[in-house]
Amino acid sequence: MSYKIAVIVGSLRRESFNHQLAQALAKLAPQGFELAISRIDDLPLYNQDDDKAQAPSVMRLKGEITAAQGVLFVTPEYNRSIPGVLKNAIDVASRPYGKSSFLDKPIGIISTSPGPLGGVSAAKHLQNIMPGIAGPILGPPETYLNGLGDAFDDKGALTKEPLQKVLQQYIDAFAAFIDKQNR
Ligand code: FNR
Repeated sequence: MSYKIAVIVGSLRRESFNHQLAQALAKLAPQGFELAISRIDDLPLYNQDDDKAQAPSVMRLKGEITAAQGVLFVTPEYNRSIPGVLKNAIDVASRPYGKSSFLDKPIGIISTSPGPLGGVSAAKHLQNIMPGIAGPILGPPETYLNGLGDAFDDKGALTKEPLQKVLQQYIDAFAAFIDKQNR
């Protein structure tokens, strides 16, 4: 079978470690898995008044999630939680009420922040946010990474073999989870 995965990155920063991590995971994904990063920088701030006529950028994101067989969040931690841009993307895609695009979609969560705990608080907050609007969340191997400052060369290729092994382990587990949930 072939699977599409909507990847949502919680950073808009040009040289974002999370964006590079998402791209590395896309390259390591097993055959049959197509990981595509969804754009979230042009979404309007969520306003419940807009539920009746959501903006084209919101409809695009919702379409990408709906067409996917799973969603992978790759996020840093901001102030012990997820960045506002990511929460906004989740809010717009989860509405109108009862029409969450995430409904029944299996979810993966991976974080990286330079702090010693690798963004674990953001990942844990996502684990609180998603159950009401989405499908099951992958458990082990929980993967919260720090120290990715020199993990990629200027072409975005991974420079550290141990990290590559950790990422391979994660994406293989995620792929197996997606396959199982979609059968
Ligand atoms: C941070 N950062 C951060 N890191 C962390 O481990 N715990 C935290 O609570 C915070 N808080 C925080 C707040 C704000 C407003 C900013 C801008 C940054 C550091 C942050 O995780 C770091 O800049 C990452 O590199 C951002 O991810 P990208 O852009 O590299 O993907």
